[in-house]
Amino acid sequence: MALSSKGCLSLLLVVFIAAGSISDCISAAAAEESETKEFVVTLDNSNFTEFVGKHKFVVVEFYAPWCGHCKKLAPEYEKAASILSTIDPSVVLAKIDANEEQNKVISSEFEVKGFPTIKILRYGGSVVQEYKGPREADGIVTYLKKQSGPASNEIKSGEDASSIIDDDKILVVGVFPEFSGEKFENFTTLSERLRADYEFGHTLDAKHLPRGDSSAAGPFVRLFKPFDELVLDFQDFDVDALVKFVEENSIPTVTLFNKDPKHHPFVIKFFNSPNAKAMLFLNFSIEQFDSFKSKYHEVAQLYKGQDLSFLMGDIEASQGAFQYFGLKDEQVPLIIIQTNDGGKYLKPNVDPDQISSWVKDFKDGAVQPYKKSEPIPEANSEPVKVVVADNLQDMVFNSGKNVLLELYAPWCGHCKKLAPILDEVALSFGNDADVLIAKIDATANDIPQDTFDVKGYPTLYFRSSTGNLLQYDGDRTKQDMIDFIQKNRATVAKQESANDEL
Ligand SMILES: *[C@@H]1O[C@H](CO)[C@@H](O)[C@H](O)[C@H]1NC(C)=O
Ligand SMILES: *[C@@H]1O[C@H](CO)[C@@H](O)[C@H](O)[C@H]1NC(C)=O
Ligand SMILES: *[C@@H]1O[C@H](CO)[C@@H](O)[C@H](O)[C@H]1NC(C)=O
Repeated sequence: MALSSKGCLSLLLVVFIAAGSISDCISAAAAEESETKEFVVTLDNSNFTEFVGKHKFVVVEFYAPWCGHCKKLAPEYEKAASILSTIDPSVVLAKIDANEEQNKVISSEFEVKGFPTIKILRYGGSVVQEYKGPREADGIVTYLKKQSGPASNEIKSGEDASSIIDDDKILVVGVFPEFSGEKFENFTTLSERLRADYEFGHTLDAKHLPRGDSSAAGPFVRLFKPFDELVLDFQDFDVDALVKFVEENSIPTVTLFNKDPKHHPFVIKFFNSPNAKAMLFLNFSIEQFDSFKSKYHEVAQLYKGQDLSFLMGDIEASQGAFQYFGLKDEQVPLIIIQTNDGGKYLKPNVDPDQISSWVKDFKDGAVQPYKKSEPIPEANSEPVKVVVADNLQDMVFNSGKNVLLELYAPWCGHCKKLAPILDEVALSFGNDADVLIAKIDATANDIPQDTFDVKGYPTLYFRSSTGNLLQYDGDRTKQDMIDFIQKNRATVAKQESANDEL
């Protein structure tokens, strides 16, 4: 399995939202579909462009035959396609096997990174939108009916408004004296552009709307949101200004994360933001919760617009994140800040009254980075020595020895195969005090990324006692590894004489 340090934040997002379901994509399951008429259109490289080009609105699933989530989706997608074929105008659902060699040009053109990926292609494919709806038939139907209809619907009454205003979602309403003119057109452009993420409506009278000044005359845009100020008005109709207004105001001052899925769209926004990320983890059921919430909110308010976003997570829902960061339940309430370069800063067992000064210290650069580490082993008496983040410097860089270090993952098959071989290599150097064979669990310990380039497991590095660092790319056999060590090692005697000469 390949690793990429750039993928860390999105991996973290997966850890938050989809904990437990990641491995599903590897295991193949699900029964074969029965032979009936297919409503989902099959496309491939030979007819994709032509087919899409003919449609104003078409939905395409990029799938791989081995992917479990795709198999789970297939019957739901097919059922949705059969229902959507009967409405007017009908909505077409298609699929393409993105694993097929000849189709890979198309999946790379559409930046398909995982399976299944569903995209909505509008106007012959000239506008491409991510499918962000549910994955079961009824949900797919409802979502696509809405996406294929107008981006914004007219609100003619209070009932119209309450039917689209949802306590969990963001709604953007344009209030106009008439539905024409450049401002109305710009609002329409806005709604087309952001329709995948927000609800839109337009009205002639602000009195139909449930919140805000009901006597205000248009044109203006009113944003309803389920957090913070709840309602905001905006009068600049420049399209980019409108987009910015909606995007900026749709991130809560403090994003909440617990098991309630209504928060998840905002958690996704939180992780997609380019800001550094502060996360306060605690038990949402404790008495002090409100006091934490209000102090944290104050701090978040203070740093608004300063490249730092704030999330509060319930420990019940955050086990994935705890594993990822190597955190322990005894450390809550805790704050961890992750910067964009992968830096991490930790304040365990924080009091509500300490939040503000600690975040200030972080901003001032006065907080030491936090390193994820397993405990330093007490005995370490096996032939292959155990290295952890907290003794990596001492054992590998400052020991004055020639060290062969394996960076491994506990689940990695090649690592398990290598283990007995590494044992033998270690035993063969058993009487040689200048050679150390060691291993570090790279999933449970932070690995200095500027020193070790870990693209997969196992990764082997050799550091000579004089400081030469080499990656071992040879065969993973006992003899080849021993030869490599003998060839590249420096002897302590050499080092001493080198020192003597100085
Ligand atoms: C596209 O081509 C594939 C392979 O020839 C075929 O199975 C599929 O039905 C075609 N789809 C359309 C819409 O023509
Ligand atoms: C509409 O948007 C365009 C492009 O962003 C902008 O140039 C124009 O000034 C806007 N019109 C109004 C009335 O704000
Ligand atoms: C959270 O706190 C409540 C109330 O004190 C307690 O019953 C519950 O076990 C705690 N949950 C966790 C995961 O510690």
